[in-house]
Amino acid sequence: MSSQPSSFADKLNAVASDSEALLARLLDGTPLSGETARPERLIAAMRHAVLGGGKRLRPFLVVESAALFDAPREGALLTGAALELLHCYSLVHDDLPAMDNDDLRRGRPTVHKAYDEATAILAGDALLTLAFDILARDEVHNDAGVRIALVRDLARASGLGGMAGGQMLDLSAEGRFAAKRMLSENEIVTLQAMKTGALLRFACRAGAILGQANAVHLAAMEQYGAAIGEAFQIADDLLDVEGDAATLGKAAGKDAGAGKATLVAALGVAGARAKLESLIERAEAALAPFGAKADTLRAAARFIAERRN
Ligand code: IPE
Ligand code: IPE
Ligand code: MG
Ligand code: MG
Ligand code: MG
Repeated sequence: MSSQPSSFADKLNAVASDSEALLARLLDGTPLSGETARPERLIAAMRHAVLGGGKRLRPFLVVESAALFDAPREGALLTGAALELLHCYSLVHDDLPAMDNDDLRRGRPTVHKAYDEATAILAGDALLTLAFDILARDEVHNDAGVRIALVRDLARASGLGGMAGGQMLDLSAEGRFAAKRMLSENEIVTLQAMKTGALLRFACRAGAILGQANAVHLAAMEQYGAAIGEAFQIADDLLDVEGDAATLGKAAGKDAGAGKATLVAALGVAGARAKLESLIERAEAALAPFGAKADTLRAAARFIAERRN
């Protein structure tokens, strides 16, 4: 474990490095009981997708939210690792030629470029299922009811009515399956709350679940998670317009040409930035019940708005 970090960047780095070590251990080549073998090409592709990159913001949010409720860090790191595996699966599939068709991710070739499409699809499948394997483990929490709540909530955040559903709406909005129609602002907010917001909301909710928080505190974390989730995709869409591939580690300047439904397209850069700022204020306000104990989460909201990659 890392020792007594102080600044926000130090804290984010500490969770990132603890998560990196944990993810490397979870993705080693040794089969678990119940597994027959871990095929070399598949585990290599999964390691390519997960290790050595990424901000690890979702694990950070789980750890910091759990700390607010004095839940043990070990269970929070494992929950964060499960969420990060699921997030990495979403990126592998998002980058596939049939989806966003991207060659660069986290400054490296995407999994289907480094390997091939079939391997990338299977690596995504195996990352998704590994996430739930991890959440079911005793080390996550000694109360099985807590583990079941995490499994159910992550399933809902990632599936039909969450990330996968949001990705369906995102691709539909490009006009791939029927004549293109401009989405209203509310429709874009819903699409983004699903494709991106759901996993970030889960991160914040998971900390409260691990800490067996009361209903008022759980609702506060939901509100915080919803605001930063919405903010996160607006920031991503602004970076697509204003960033460059070298800094982002992924292609820039693609969304408009692809016909993506974004608030940058709907409101313009200045309008999207104003909305982003108001969401950060909403996120900070949601943390009021926790006082100074939530200062790191306040800084996380600011980080989401001001990040450069
Ligand atoms: C990128 O997420 C995908 C979106 C949901 C917009 P991140 O910006 O968190 O990507 P990594 O994990 O740091 O690479
Ligand atoms: C991704 O949104 C959302 C996911 C569920 C992965 P984007 O397609 O904008 O993410 P990037 O820009 O490729 O990281
Ligand atoms: Mg996409
Ligand atoms: Mg994409
Ligand atoms: Mg993007």
